[in-house]
Parts: sequence; C-alpha cells; structure tokens
Amino acid sequence: MKFFIDTAEVPEIRELAATGLVDGVTTNPTLIAKSGRKILDVIAEICDIVPGPISAEVAATDFDTMLEEGRKLARLRPNVAVKVPLTPAGLKVCKVLSDDGVKVNVTLCFSANQAILAAKAGASFISPFVGRLDDIGQDGMELIADIVGIYREYPAFRTEVLAASIRHPMHVTEAARLGAHVVTMPPSVLRQMYSHPLTDKGLAAFMSDWAKTGQSIL
Ligand code: G3P
Repeated sequence: MKFFIDTAEVPEIRELAATGLVDGVTTNPTLIAKSGRKILDVIAEICDIVPGPISAEVAATDFDTMLEEGRKLARLRPNVAVKVPLTPAGLKVCKVLSDDGVKVNVTLCFSANQAILAAKAGASFISPFVGRLDDIGQDGMELIADIVGIYREYPAFRTEVLAASIRHPMHVTEAARLGAHVVTMPPSVLRQMYSHPLTDKGLAAFMSDWAKTGQSIL
C-alpha cells in the first residue's frame, strides 16, 4: 500500500518525507490556497522533495483550458500527476493526457460508476472521497470496497484506487483491509498512526528498567 500525503505545506512534506514512508503527495485548489503560495512554485518544490507522483489539480472546468493547464503542470516535472475533476470534460482531458503518457488522478469521485468511467478514460488514479461521503451519512469505505472489487474483475484497468478525504487512522486501516492501492492522508493522520498508549507505557517501563542496569550499549 502506498502512502501519499494530502497537503501543500512544504515544511511538513519535508519533515514527513524524511520518515521514508511517503510515496507521493496530493494537492487540490483548497490546499494550494491554504499554502498562500503560487501553484507552479509550490508544485515544483514538492516534486523535488518527493520523487513519487505529485498531484497538481487543474483550475478550469472547460476541456480546452483544462487540457492546456494540465499540459503546463505536466511539463513542470516528470513526477507531476495531473488532477482533473470527474466531469465529462475532465474525463476527456484524462483520456488525452493519459494517451500522451501523463499520469492523471481523477478526483471528486463519489460513485462506482464514476470510477468505471475514470478507468476507461485511462486514469492512473481514481480518488474516491471517503470522509465527505461519511459526512453526509453514506459509507465511504463501502465505495472503496466496490471500486476495488470492480477493478479486480478487469485486469486491463490500470487505474489505482487512491482513498482520499481521509479523516482518521481507522480510515487508513479500513482502506488497507479492502486493498486500496494508495491512501492520501493529512500529515496529522500519518502522525497519529504511530501512536498507541501501550507503546508509550511499555517504552517508559523499558527505559526505567534499563536505567537500573547501569549499562550502555555503545
Ligand atoms: O485532496 C482530496 C481530498 O483528500 C480532500 O479531503 O478532507 O477536504 O474532504 P477533504
């Protein structure tokens, strides 16, 4: 399972990349706005920190402008994955860019049918938004299970399921159980994944017992 982090905050990306556990980064217009930085600068900087796919989202909604934006973003660095919305125009852009060998992440996916369309359009990634479905009383993880199951039936589909809109560590566990290829999570969720009170308690006991031995390994 690959871990992407869902942020455009460069210092956080740098810090988490040092763990060796970060396989890619996803951004969206909201995250770019939060960063307060120019999209082309921030994407190029992130691409130089993390070698895996870095999703950069187009900002237009019509085919011609989205395609032009997508091509410009793709030219920035070879590890850019162009993110397009799951609309008819977005999927047309996905098909053209994918045929040109550009990785495309299709975002704002809320149904299995939408995920089937994205796979047929040659998407490298489909991003079902788990948390936003949970927010409206639907089961986001059921959608992940559906898509993973459907894609498995069609080995010709090369699209990876990228569980997005992740709100807490249990979402990561569930996505892993279901066989999602990738999970993109906010930095806070990745940090929370390390924590367990019994780890802290156990380590404190080991350290205190070790101190009593008066030994040193080095
Ligand atoms: O980047 C897409 C997705 O992960 C957004 O998450 O928390 O805004 O629903 P959220």
